[in-house]
Amino acid sequence: MRITTAQIRKYKQDKKRFAALTAYDVVTARLVDQAGIPIILVGDSLGMVVLGYENTIPVTLDDIIHHTRAVVRGSETSMVVADLPFMTYHKSPEQALDSAARCMQQGGAQAVKLEGGRVMAPTIRRLTESGIAVMAHIGLTPQSVNQLGGFKAQGKTKVQALTVMEDALAVQEAGAFSVVLECVPAALASLITKRLQIPTIGIGSGPDCDAEIQVVSDILGWITDFQPKHTKRFAHLADQAKQAIDQYTAEVGGRTFPTQDNSFSIDEEVLRDVEAAFPAQV
Ligand code: KIV
Repeated sequence: MRITTAQIRKYKQDKKRFAALTAYDVVTARLVDQAGIPIILVGDSLGMVVLGYENTIPVTLDDIIHHTRAVVRGSETSMVVADLPFMTYHKSPEQALDSAARCMQQGGAQAVKLEGGRVMAPTIRRLTESGIAVMAHIGLTPQSVNQLGGFKAQGKTKVQALTVMEDALAVQEAGAFSVVLECVPAALASLITKRLQIPTIGIGSGPDCDAEIQVVSDILGWITDFQPKHTKRFAHLADQAKQAIDQYTAEVGGRTFPTQDNSFSIDEEVLRDVEAAFPAQV
């Protein structure tokens, strides 16, 4: 039985802070699920940390569905949230409905996430009234990176801070069951968290959100070329993987791997028969 939106809302009432993580494949999903993490997001960060794009814009709905299926196969109790990619929900609430339906019917997701505040409220309302659980995402919204002028904190000026607060209230009012606050100043995120009934899920938004979400590749040290300010490495998997690949390469070249222990045996008589059938050419 998977975690439900009702349980996620109850965490807030019970002041139970929780962690959420992204995952894109079956192995990672299994680990995250076994850690008891209630929400796995198949984020469009997929584009940057798995597919090698510069930002999330090129990610397609088919990409998200493909990876959501893997994450669903790897998990049993976590709620799996599929991230709606760029331009798969902006054109109309009907387009959003079609995209969300595909994530759920073909991908197996229990909920979808979309970026945007007040402007997306009618879309969120259309989805939730159709029975689709929606996680909203405000503050720094990476799909708008070109319009925002880069990956930077949102809500520092009075106008921006009021906008972020209004966005948060609008997505709650529209029926979102939770809202991601990305790179919002900590004190503002804290205030929003106090004003909302739905859980705030912070990333780069300080310690007072109801929950925290991170990109799994960042916290595991799997991506080393760039470390965002809002993350922390809890492991150094890329360093360990590099060491292992170097050692494997050296052992194959030096004929110390594979050994008999890694090999299969054959009856000597069978081998003699094969040698006799194919004698060495002189
Ligand atoms: O795509 C993603 O991974 C996200 C999280 C950073 C919230 O949107």
